[in-house]
Amino acid sequence: MATMLDRLARPLQDLRISLTDRCNFRCTYCMPKEVFGPGYRFLGRHEVLTFEEIERVVRTFASLGATKVRLTGGEPLVRRGVEDLVARLSAVDGVADLTMTTNGSLLRQKAAALAAAGLRRITVSLDSLDDATFQAMNDAGCGVATVIDGIEAALEAGLAPVKVNAVVRRGVNEDGVVALAERFRGTGVTIRFIEYMDVGESNGWRLDEVVPAQEIVDRIGAVWPLEPVGRSTPGEVAARWRYSDGSGEIGVISSVTQPFCGACSRARISAEGKLYTCLFAADGHDLRAILRSGADDAELADRIRAIWLRRSDRYSELRSTATPGVRKVEMSHIGG
Ligand code: GTP
Ligand code: 5AD
Ligand code: SF4
Ligand code: SF4
Repeated sequence: MATMLDRLARPLQDLRISLTDRCNFRCTYCMPKEVFGPGYRFLGRHEVLTFEEIERVVRTFASLGATKVRLTGGEPLVRRGVEDLVARLSAVDGVADLTMTTNGSLLRQKAAALAAAGLRRITVSLDSLDDATFQAMNDAGCGVATVIDGIEAALEAGLAPVKVNAVVRRGVNEDGVVALAERFRGTGVTIRFIEYMDVGESNGWRLDEVVPAQEIVDRIGAVWPLEPVGRSTPGEVAARWRYSDGSGEIGVISSVTQPFCGACSRARISAEGKLYTCLFAADGHDLRAILRSGADDAELADRIRAIWLRRSDRYSELRSTATPGVRKVEMSHIGG
């Protein structure tokens, strides 16, 4: 099969699937309580894709060249029976890398079942080691110890490598960056620091809250010297750095200060089955309607191919000139 390239010559390699728009956290940068409060209308049971539908979508994307599948949310572990979906997807031909991004709060309960079902590795979000700071950021009363315990459970279950994601906000958790690096140095767990992004419309993002990735590398490198490793694959979002003393690696995701759209090979499916060709898209393509219309697999594949061939998104590179007034989809909806 010839590689399918978009208008900027980028192949389709990764599929990120949001299993639910719900989450048991209310991170202020993602689902602030003022917006995602009791009155917020989440998707209903029949609006979200079923496991059968998700499996069919994954098979179709795999037939079009996707080899990496990441399950996201909202919080993917609040979707009932998630391990059954993992079992189905791990059996799909062509899916070489099946993984998940989770907030870790339910991981102690789920890690063994996920590993048994065929999940290979996992990424856990943890923004601070300081309880007060972490609780202020997740706004749901979850303490650091719960997430650390979830990370331990993932390691015990053999979900390797485990990665940890920390979103860094100026004046909020930036002073905890070195402590996070220290906690995971030498453990085999890679911590990645993420520049706070202007995803969605709810978080009131401001450029002056972004801590540039280079500043993070400089701060950690001043304590333990670091050397650049580059990216494992061109489409990877994190730039890797290794400790010169051999104690492992960190990563930085610099979507604001050094965008990486040039090699972006990611497609995203929201919980309700819309296909988005960019994290910052205003709208998606309704795959659910196609799935529920009786279309066969060839037709579904043709529709997806046509969407990818037309793709020209590069929002992060255009950020400064982006069209004001266009409403972007929320992170909890599209899955980050
Ligand atoms: P690996 O395969 O382990 O490298 O995972 P990943 O880094 O692709 O996935 P993860 O869910 O851990 O994402 C880390 C951060 O990068 C999150 O904040 C994502 O929102 C962000 N991210 C992932 N893909 C993209 C992308 O295509 N564009 C932008 N701007 N940010 C992205
Ligand atoms: N900017 C950067 N990262 C974000 N995440 C959620 N919202 C944002 C944002 N506005 C992160 C989560 C998780 C990953 C999928 O995306 O913390 O680690
Ligand atoms: Fe939930 Fe993750 Fe969003 Fe936090 S960042 S509210 S854990 S989906
Ligand atoms: Fe890909 Fe859009 Fe992110 Fe650029 S901004 S890397 S095109 S998802």
